[in-house]
Amino acid sequence: MPKDPNTGLLIPGRSAPARSVPAAITRPPYVGKQAPDTWTGGDVYTPEEIARIERASAIAADALDHLEQFAVRGVTTDELDSIAHDFVTARGAYPSTLGYRGFPKSSCTSLNEVICHGIPDDTVLESGDILNVDITAYFEGMHGDTNRMYLVGDVTDESRLLVERTHEAMMRGIAAAKPGRQVNVIGRVIEKYASRFGYGVVRDYTGHGVGGAFHSGLIIPHYDSAQHTTVIEEGMVFTVEPMLTLGTSDWRLWDDGWTVVTADGSRCAQWEHTVVVTSDGPRILTVPSS
Ligand code: MF3
Ligand code: CO
Ligand code: CO
Repeated sequence: MPKDPNTGLLIPGRSAPARSVPAAITRPPYVGKQAPDTWTGGDVYTPEEIARIERASAIAADALDHLEQFAVRGVTTDELDSIAHDFVTARGAYPSTLGYRGFPKSSCTSLNEVICHGIPDDTVLESGDILNVDITAYFEGMHGDTNRMYLVGDVTDESRLLVERTHEAMMRGIAAAKPGRQVNVIGRVIEKYASRFGYGVVRDYTGHGVGGAFHSGLIIPHYDSAQHTTVIEEGMVFTVEPMLTLGTSDWRLWDDGWTVVTADGSRCAQWEHTVVVTSDGPRILTVPSS
């Protein structure tokens, strides 16, 4: 089931059947389709829209807080997904990943060498594991997207430092997001900080515009990229979600079509916030309500 006994690396598990969402909860428009329609709404939002993104964001952030007590050894990632699903829907929101481009679950659970988009299954958490849970809530027509790391039991200093420094990298990237700068400033700051420690910086998965669309088309690189020259504006909403590894930034995709793992099996950490840019600078929207 969860880990290859010889290598200690993950192997795919089994997933429980799809969970249902109460009929009264509004679905995002892509549910039941192969892919979302192209977003034409842009990335700049009015104060009223930002207030709605903030309410969606708080639900996702509260769900991650709620999971803290459950992310312990012996628990499966599917059990965490069930708890997240119930939490988000009890708040009247739709778990945005469920049915997004065919993704089968209400959260992504990315363990150890999984970079992102891990599918919750019967993998059992063990002491020493590092786990990312990524939750997006759709509420009042808006998505709020956030993820964080959980340390399970006794984690090595090497892994704990990776987790802590990835959080710091995200916060530095966010702090750099000021109106008038190009979005590549965010990645430049993150890559610079990560390079102090020799960490790999994942390039092929990025931050993104978020709000009316789950992924608007705007890309926020986590590395220094001359290509990404979009100028940051007041009222812009996007995620910053760096993935840093203990080894290579090269990756492989599992046969499930979703799970992205490091090519060398090294561990990866990620943190994510949804952020709005104001005239004073960035403001994090994915903060818990209490
Ligand atoms: N929440 C993820 C992100 O940060 C996206 C998950 S898409 C899914 O962008 F299909 F894998 F769920
Ligand atoms: Co995201
Ligand atoms: Co996310």
